[in-house]
Amino acid sequence: MNPSESGMAQAARRMLSAKAEQFTESVIREMTRLAMKHGAVNLSQGFPDFAAPAEIKEAARQAISDDINQYAITWGAKPLRDAIVEKFERTQGLRLDPEREVTICCGSTEAMMSTMLAIINPGDEIVVFEPFYENYGPDAILSGATPRFVKLSPPDWTFDEKELTAAFGPHTKAIILNTPNNPTGKVFTRGELEFIRNLCVRWNAYCITDEIYEHILYDGAEHISMARIDGMRDRTIVINGMSKTYSVTGWRVGWALAPPEPTAAIRKVHDFLTVGAAAPLQQAGAIALKSPQSYYDKLAADYAVRRERLLKILTAAGFKVYKPLGAYYIMTDIAAFGFPNDVAFAKFLVEKVGVAVVPGSSFYNDARDGATQVRFTFCKKESTLAAAEEKLSRLLQHITNR
Ligand SMILES: Cc1ncc(COP(=O)(O)O)c(C=O)c1O
Repeated sequence: MNPSESGMAQAARRMLSAKAEQFTESVIREMTRLAMKHGAVNLSQGFPDFAAPAEIKEAARQAISDDINQYAITWGAKPLRDAIVEKFERTQGLRLDPEREVTICCGSTEAMMSTMLAIINPGDEIVVFEPFYENYGPDAILSGATPRFVKLSPPDWTFDEKELTAAFGPHTKAIILNTPNNPTGKVFTRGELEFIRNLCVRWNAYCITDEIYEHILYDGAEHISMARIDGMRDRTIVINGMSKTYSVTGWRVGWALAPPEPTAAIRKVHDFLTVGAAAPLQQAGAIALKSPQSYYDKLAADYAVRRERLLKILTAAGFKVYKPLGAYYIMTDIAAFGFPNDVAFAKFLVEKVGVAVVPGSSFYNDARDGATQVRFTFCKKESTLAAAEEKLSRLLQHITNR
C-alpha cells in the first residue's frame, strides 16, 4: 500500500462503534441538565431531592471508618448477598443461594446490562413492553438483541394477549418486564404474570424482571415477583437495587438474582465490566436491607401523599393524568394543549414555564407513539412540588400568550 492508499483506507475506516451510533444520550438525563440551565423545577429524572435515611448514611460512614475500602468480592460482599437473600425470602417467599444465585453490580443499570450481555447471542430476540424505561433500548443494541415491542395501552396500561403471543417465537431469548412500571405506574397482576409465564415456558425464554420499585405501591396493589410464579423460578432473572427503596440513586448498588447457570455468566461479564460496586456502600446496603417493615410502609405512605399532591396539581393545570398504582411517576396526555409534539411541549415547559419533564417519545421505539405524552415524577419534597404548582398554575396563560 502506498501512503495515499493507506490514508484513504484510514479515512474509510469507521472510527466510532456502529452500535454506539444507534442511540442518543439519555433524554431523561438531558432534561435534568436543561432544568439546571433554565433554573426550572425538575420533575423529570427519578431521583429524590430529600434526605436519605440517617441510619443508612451512618452505616456508610462507619464502613469507611472501619476501612472497608478495598475491592469487595467481585460478585458482591457476603453480608449484602445474605441480606438480599433474607429479604427476598421474607417478601417473596423464595429462598435463593447467596453463593450461586446473587450478583451485586453498580446499580440495577449494570445488573441489567451484564445480564443482557451474559445471555444474548446474535439472532436472539427480546420482547419489551412499551412505553419502556429508556435504558432497555441501548441495552438491546449493545448486547446485540433484536427487540420486539408490545404495547401497554392507557388508561390501565394493559397488553393485548394476541399481540404478546405473536411477539414470542423460536428466536425469543427473554422478555423484559418492569413491575411496578416506569413510566406508566402499572403493577402487573398475577393473571398477567401467568399469561407471560405460559409464553416463556412454551418458547423456552427467560423473564428478566426489573423490580426496582417493588416497595412503592398504592391503593392495595401487590408486588408479585415473576420468580415466584409456578414454573418461573428457574427462568427468571430479577433485577433490583438500593436506588429507589432507600433514596440513594447516587450510590450505584444493584443486583441480579438468577439461577446458578445464568448467574455464573452474569458474574463473569460483571467482573470485566466494573469489577465491583463500592465496597463501603455494599456494607451499608446490608444494614439497609434489614430495615423493619415499618420503613417500607412509611416509604409507600409518604409517596402516596406526594402522588395525590401531584395528581391535583396536574389536573388543575389542564393535564389528562393516568393515576399510577406503583412507582413514582405520572404519565400524562397533553393533546389538549395543541403542541406539535411532546418534545416541543417539554421544551416550552422547561424554557417558558420553568418545569422540566420527560417527553413521552423517549419511552417508545417510534417517537410518534409518545407524541402526546409527557412524564412527571413526584419523588420530590413538598417545597419542590409547591414550586411546580406555582409555575404550572400559569401554564394556560403562557400557552395563550405563545
Ligand atoms: C425501571 C428502572 N430500572 C432501573 C433504574 C436505574 O436503577 P439504578 O439506579 O439501580 O441503576 C431506573 C431509574 O430510574 C428505573 O426507573
